[in-house]
Amino acid sequence: MLELDTETTTATGTPPRRSRTEPPTREHSPSISQVLAGLGDAGFRRDHGLRYAYVAGAMANGIASVELVEAMARGGMLGFFGAAGLGKDRVEAALHRLQAEIPGLPFGVNLIHSPNESSLEDAVARMFILRGLRLIEASAYLRLTLPVVRFRVAGIHRDAAGHIVTPNRIVAKVSRVEVATQFFSPPPAEMLNELVRTGDITAEQAALAAQIPVAQDVTAEADSAGHTDNRPLVTLLPTLLALRDRLQTQFNYAQPLRVGAAGGLATPSGLAAAFAMGAAYVVTGSVNQACVESGSSEVVRKMLAQAEQADTAMAPAADMFEMGVKLQVLKRGTMFPMRAAKLWELFRAYPSLDAIPEADRAQLEKQFFRATLADTWASTRAFWLTRDPAQVERAERDAKHKMALVFRSYLGLSSRWANAGEPSRVMDYQVWCGPAMGAFNEWTRGTFLAAPENRRAETVALNLLYGAAKHLRAVALRLQGIPLSPEDTFCVPIEPERLHELMNAKPV
Ligand SMILES: Cc1cc2nc3c(=O)[nH]c(=O)nc-3n(C[C@H](O)[C@H](O)[C@H](O)COP(=O)(O)O)c2cc1C
Repeated sequence: MLELDTETTTATGTPPRRSRTEPPTREHSPSISQVLAGLGDAGFRRDHGLRYAYVAGAMANGIASVELVEAMARGGMLGFFGAAGLGKDRVEAALHRLQAEIPGLPFGVNLIHSPNESSLEDAVARMFILRGLRLIEASAYLRLTLPVVRFRVAGIHRDAAGHIVTPNRIVAKVSRVEVATQFFSPPPAEMLNELVRTGDITAEQAALAAQIPVAQDVTAEADSAGHTDNRPLVTLLPTLLALRDRLQTQFNYAQPLRVGAAGGLATPSGLAAAFAMGAAYVVTGSVNQACVESGSSEVVRKMLAQAEQADTAMAPAADMFEMGVKLQVLKRGTMFPMRAAKLWELFRAYPSLDAIPEADRAQLEKQFFRATLADTWASTRAFWLTRDPAQVERAERDAKHKMALVFRSYLGLSSRWANAGEPSRVMDYQVWCGPAMGAFNEWTRGTFLAAPENRRAETVALNLLYGAAKHLRAVALRLQGIPLSPEDTFCVPIEPERLHELMNAKPV
């Protein structure tokens, strides 16, 4: 049994004292509210202006919508708008709305690495600087790029007390040590020199930038929806925590490095585990797509509400198709994973669309594209002529590239059909989703949160946090040898009104 000298404040404000010989009692243990207030890293909450160390990660094509980001901000949490897959103008319009509708509240926007569209990444990052966006979630990076570094160092200066001030912050989401290392290190000298050469920063600013990490906050993204390396959180998080300690010692930054956790977090015990392991903050994704504020469709939210633990599969990604990159999607209720796998198989086996055997061609035209391959190329060509004409020039020289663009058009449309709830294409819906969804459905089974229309992002998040705090408190009681009642461990979703009362209650 642990002997704790815990002091907690009672309702009268007098901290009870316990001598080392007295048996531990509940009164000497932290209350749920106290545990709740202490979840995650206090510096993370302070720096980002949050009540809770809880983040709704970006979801492409505006699935992490303005409404979702606003709901998080109003609930004292952080959301990132899902800019990936959208043109610069739409991202700019969303940013404009957020700045107008929740001035002073915390929010950020995703900056996604786009190896196939580096000019878009550059334009979006420049627009962020111009529009005064202060926080981005940088994701899908394999190595640092100039746009992401330019964003971070823009406006860097020393304050009157001589401290380095970085107005722009990055929360970098990674699943590999090599990438985390780059974000936790100062920007590479050659990039800083280049930014001085182009007049983006001064030599003095470059000298300051050499003393800060590219990102103070790095999210360890374990097995998750969408792009994922399928790493288990219980190994990835400790790996990045060890890296954090090593690099903090090496660089001795004034502001300590922090590691957050993402992937599979959708239950109170899941969040409790991540916080107990040392996560500075938690990031959710799959559960937020299932919420009413998400930019997805009602039909998809219903499909997600049916998902069980094993109802996901890996399927080829539209953005990095040729590289063989896969992402995690829902497989229950859609044929998308099988159809996408078929496209990858054909792409690997044949040098051009013309070389595809007749039976396969017929299947593609009838079931996948519902148009001839020639017509599909015509519409694909028209799309790329407005988005990036260099792709068309290359495809007209390179038959394999043409095949990639045609196949990618299906992969791209399939997620748009899902978001739009296109009734004629249910079997083609591409819905990014991880095993988190099944865990959440199991936890909420038979409760008000089982119904898709009751899944509000704030209610879901606060329930997860409150439940995590309750779970951790039960662990603390157990470790002190205090007998637990069913009430201590029973953890079901709580209706919003009651939850707010509980969460805003004074600590006792
Ligand atoms: C529908 C959907 C789309 C996503 N799109 C993006 C994206 O564009 N950029 C990004 O950084 N992460 C994206 N993610 C990942 C989430 O931000 C989050 O890191 C991840 O979903 C957490 O894992 P979980 O799904 O197990 O909760 C997406 C997730 C979902 C569910």
